Amino acid sequence: MSDNLPLVVANHKSNLDFSKFDLWIKKVGLAVANFKGTAIVCPSDPFLSFAKIEKGSNNWNFQLGAQNISAENEGAYTGEVSASQLKDLCTYAIIGHSERRNLFGENDETVATKVKLAKDAGIKPVFCIQDESTPIPDGVKIVAYEPVFAIGTGNPDTPENAKSVSAKIKQKGDYIVLYGGSVNKQNVKSFIEKNVIDGVLVGSASIDADSFVDILNNI
Ligand code: PGA
Repeated sequence: MSDNLPLVVANHKSNLDFSKFDLWIKKVGLAVANFKGTAIVCPSDPFLSFAKIEKGSNNWNFQLGAQNISAENEGAYTGEVSASQLKDLCTYAIIGHSERRNLFGENDETVATKVKLAKDAGIKPVFCIQDESTPIPDGVKIVAYEPVFAIGTGNPDTPENAKSVSAKIKQKGDYIVLYGGSVNKQNVKSFIEKNVIDGVLVGSASIDADSFVDILNNI
């Protein structure tokens, strides 16, 4: 499956309980029908199979992603969810998010292992880098530039700087590059530019279904 651009990723983090997610997916599922790019919905893992079934029975036009995958393959790892378990439920996985790195101790080696496990399982990594110096593992095709100061703060990077970083990332390889960090319906259009920034990764402003639909409509 090719990735129609722009890519718009909704990262719910640990927000929304099941009944709220149920309402969210129904609103977004209907609204996304006319979106020409690729909307990638990343709920919490327990909701992925429900979202997949709803998507299939309603023919909804979004893709599903996991917010994380285990750095271990299947086995005796209580509480972990392996790439091999996720592969039938989602097409993408966010890997290397700064919250995973800063709060859960993931380092460049851990995230490279996760990329390999995702690729081996046929899952496409959406690989987050915090700045130009973050190493990008082999096999990554989608890179999200997410400066830490901009995440969840309401203080996005400037579109100019995000575009300049994106151009430098594209010089390193044939990457699809996203911007993430305080993207909302007002500023989304200023970030996306053909052949420069190919999409956005949205956290806070994706939690409310109407706000996320506005983002899709405003692109
Ligand atoms: P934010 O989060 O949109 O709330 O800044 C983005 C992210 O964490 O990827």
